[in-house]
Amino acid sequence: MINKNYKSNKRFCVITGANAGIGIETAMQLAIKGYHIIMICRNREKAERAQNEIKDKSGNEKIDLLIADLASLKSVENVAKEFKQNYKYLHVLINNAGIFNRKRIETENGYESTFAVDYLAHFLLTNSLLDVIKNSAPSRIINVSSNIHLYFKINFDDLMSEEKYSSQKAYANAKFALVLFTYELARRLNGTGVTVNALHPGHARTKMTAPTKKRSKIFLSLISPLTKSPEEAARTSVYLASSPEVEGITGKYFKNCKPVKSHKLTYDESLQTKLWKISEKLVYIF
Ligand SMILES: NC(=O)c1ccc[n+]([C@@H]2O[C@H](COP(=O)([O-])OP(=O)(O)OC[C@H]3O[C@@H](n4cnc5c(N)ncnc54)[C@H](OP(=O)(O)O)[C@@H]3O)[C@@H](O)[C@H]2O)c1
Repeated sequence: MINKNYKSNKRFCVITGANAGIGIETAMQLAIKGYHIIMICRNREKAERAQNEIKDKSGNEKIDLLIADLASLKSVENVAKEFKQNYKYLHVLINNAGIFNRKRIETENGYESTFAVDYLAHFLLTNSLLDVIKNSAPSRIINVSSNIHLYFKINFDDLMSEEKYSSQKAYANAKFALVLFTYELARRLNGTGVTVNALHPGHARTKMTAPTKKRSKIFLSLISPLTKSPEEAARTSVYLASSPEVEGITGKYFKNCKPVKSHKLTYDESLQTKLWKISEKLVYIF
């Protein structure tokens, strides 16, 4: 159910993948601060459970839900339309949803699914909502990337991981792309009152990092002191969404609520623009 009783002085916040892990904790912490949250999730049953949990724990009733499968560009386009039909303002967009696929899977659009969900869907969603975000300025866009991008540079010759598939490389490609996208968008939005930053949440104990055959429970319990709870991992997203300290700060990469350096190639404006042009071709296909 969408709550249409909004007032312009309220702060509206969209979070993708808000039903689990870092996303639900981000939604919870911002709900406690009084934000009107719009969760974008793919599974209605799981999402409604999370929606109720956020309402109960935060005491905030303004928690809405829109259903979209970010693996489908059509679904992303539809959810952006649905948002605009129901809301006039968007002050914070948190592009949080992500996957890490052990096997190469193609989406209905024929794209490698990690690149499609973690990056391309958010490129399309952000651009589709940009008019509302600009009209709501001062407003903020937050891209949840990962430090993994520091260890693999983006492979423009194989964005869809068609050569030998590596789950880490596919994930790193998408997270590297999110950082390039952040910097290009920050330049394009200069002077509009809209800021855009990327972040590494830290290594968090979520479904994404749960035990597998390769990552045993014993190994995970050994590194556990070095990892964060989802609640702790949500803090940088919440900080970038809500802190007055980052008002006007744009085009940065954050970790532990502090700006840090991203991969040196992410600062190359020619690569940022190259990715933007490729992404436009990849998303505006229907
Ligand atoms: N955990 C870490 O250590 C870590 C480290 C660095 C970066 N990150 C990043 O942090 C973000 C959150 O990760 P997490 O650890 O919280 O992962 P998670 O617990 O697996 O949660 C991922 C969220 O994304 C949603 N999602 C996945 N595919 C989707 C799709 N096709 N359409 C719509 N929603 C979809 C999931 O929905 P379902 O519940 O329906 O699957 C879930 O809500 C991701 O971008 C991840 O790459 C995480």
